[in-house]
Amino acid sequence: MMVINLSQRVEYLHKQLNAHNYRYYVLNDPIISDAEYDELFHELWRIEEKNPELRTHDSPTQRVGSAPLALFASVQHTVPMLSLSNVFNLSELEAFEKRVRDRLPFSRDKVAYFCEPKLDGLAISLRYEKGVFVCAATRGDGQIGENVTDNCRTIRHIPLKLLGTYPDIVEVRGEVYMPISGFKQLNMRLEEKQEKAFANPRNAAAGSLRQLDSRITARRPLAFFAYGFGEVSAPCALTQQEGLDVLNSWGFPVAKDVFLATSIHACQQYYDFLQKHRHALDYEIDGMVIKVNDFALQESLGFLSRSPRWATAYKFPAIEVSTVIEGVDFQVGRTGALTPVARLQPVSVGGVVVSNATLHNMDEIERKDIRIGDTVIIRRAGDVIPEIVHVVVEKRVGHEEKISPPSCCPACQHSVERVVGETVIRCSRGLDCIAQRKEMLVHFSSRRAMNIEGLGEKLIYQLVDTGLVHTPVDLYRVSVHQLSVLARMGEKSATNIIDAIAGSRSTTLNRFVYALGIRDVGEATALNLAHYFLTLDNLMSASMEDLLKVNDVGPIVAHHIRTFFDDARHQVLVHALIQVGIHWPEIFKHDSDSHIAHKIFVLTGTLVSMTREEAKEKLQSLGAVVSNSISKKTHYLVAGENPGSKIQKRNSLV
Ligand code: IVH
Repeated sequence: MMVINLSQRVEYLHKQLNAHNYRYYVLNDPIISDAEYDELFHELWRIEEKNPELRTHDSPTQRVGSAPLALFASVQHTVPMLSLSNVFNLSELEAFEKRVRDRLPFSRDKVAYFCEPKLDGLAISLRYEKGVFVCAATRGDGQIGENVTDNCRTIRHIPLKLLGTYPDIVEVRGEVYMPISGFKQLNMRLEEKQEKAFANPRNAAAGSLRQLDSRITARRPLAFFAYGFGEVSAPCALTQQEGLDVLNSWGFPVAKDVFLATSIHACQQYYDFLQKHRHALDYEIDGMVIKVNDFALQESLGFLSRSPRWATAYKFPAIEVSTVIEGVDFQVGRTGALTPVARLQPVSVGGVVVSNATLHNMDEIERKDIRIGDTVIIRRAGDVIPEIVHVVVEKRVGHEEKISPPSCCPACQHSVERVVGETVIRCSRGLDCIAQRKEMLVHFSSRRAMNIEGLGEKLIYQLVDTGLVHTPVDLYRVSVHQLSVLARMGEKSATNIIDAIAGSRSTTLNRFVYALGIRDVGEATALNLAHYFLTLDNLMSASMEDLLKVNDVGPIVAHHIRTFFDDARHQVLVHALIQVGIHWPEIFKHDSDSHIAHKIFVLTGTLVSMTREEAKEKLQSLGAVVSNSISKKTHYLVAGENPGSKIQKRNSLV
């Protein structure tokens, strides 16, 4: 009889699950499916349920959190957790390097620096005894931190048991952070439950890790990067670079975006690179950490009171700063939507002076309870328009003013409407509103619409403000002289723009439909409409029923299209544009199912139900080619009454 040794099976399952965890969370390269992993996990879970004595603290099942604590216990760090000095520019970086060199006995030699992203999360120290995770502590004041072991146990990037070979005592230092993708999902979940969202991934990471109930931490998408050592019972590496490899081999994720620089100028180059590419990373970084690579040199450099002499943080200019809202303007868009924009006390964010931030809509203002006079935190990510993250409520003095929706359009003073169920407030005056006219013209001339090169927003605003241009039709009547005087530009540049306007007369139906700026009709819809209706007349006279047959067109878009063409001003505009010479090639229906697509037809004689011209158009609209003369290539000859000589020619060819 075979005796099943359960503890051996448990050990086997631990090893398997740890190895698969490592492949998944550290190498990003799993070799089994989630279902296979779950199967192993549940087998272990079942064994432990029936045999609680086999459930150890380092079991892979112990990542779900445990009963809430009353408060966090204190942990004394055996090796203090220090902070880093900061530098903000190249000359400060050079001063750091000089301090390093001055302290080293062989300053003529090259010192190598290891550059790492400065992760914006929380520093943590993880203690392993004989390879088993026993304690996690926050930095606290550097000497005493809080015991967050239960919480860290739920973070799957942190191994519960080290892999490979390791000293008896190991303390791993690193950063707990929340990936940006996980942060976004978490905030969506919180908002759905009408709970307070986190302002940024750092706050979310801190709020999630410092939970007395570790079952909550277990549901938060936290992650971990290792970057150093605390207490170790035996040395593990000679350099920082090697150290990261060792940490990685024990099962810890380490940042990949690292660089070994052989000069301080190479550090600067890598800093520039990181700053440029920081938005491509799925985690937030607020600078670069520069460390003397050689551990022996680190030791001889030693520490200042709170930070090492061998490392510094080269910080990025802040992307989140505080400023004051001086007022709110409502900007009128092409379709009349009024967008609130905050006027800010100018402030530098990430190296760029910012004086406006979008407020999106009134709902957003109410949700964030933004008032004029408020101190707010603004953030600029990548090249996007800055946003207001949150109000600093503590700074309120009582004079802040609530923002009320405008009762009339700020550009044309016409009354505004707010459709029930829509968050947007609109000026419904269309082309009679000067702001909408300007935006409509900007859209009309844009690259994907009529593609008028050189006719930018500024010039269009000038043309409208001086009364030279009211509608797109007027563009085609502006002279080189008018333009050169107005824009104070040379005759050559003015001629180029006028030529570009003239050239735009020759276009396609889909571009023209898109250029009209019908609400919700983007490029793709315009193309579908053109292919379905083939002619502008067909489109303009299409019923709701017909419109709904077009790919991608639902009742709302169909309604916008109908409303647009029912407006007499738009009918006048379209006809005037055709009058000034806008034209496009005819479209043929390329219905590959149609057996007459691409076939060559010749018409002859008098047809009964339609004229030859009508028949020709109809055939062309179905994708057929209509030719005047018969040849060997002709597929069909349509003969009416009195067909003439063509029928004989056909007979001679067969
Ligand atoms: S090494 C002796 N490396 O920056 C100090 N720190 O101000 C050793 N940080 O509290 C720190 N990324 O939370 C180091 N790659 C990195 C880091 C990093 C972020 C944080 C850490 C520390 C703070 C120092």
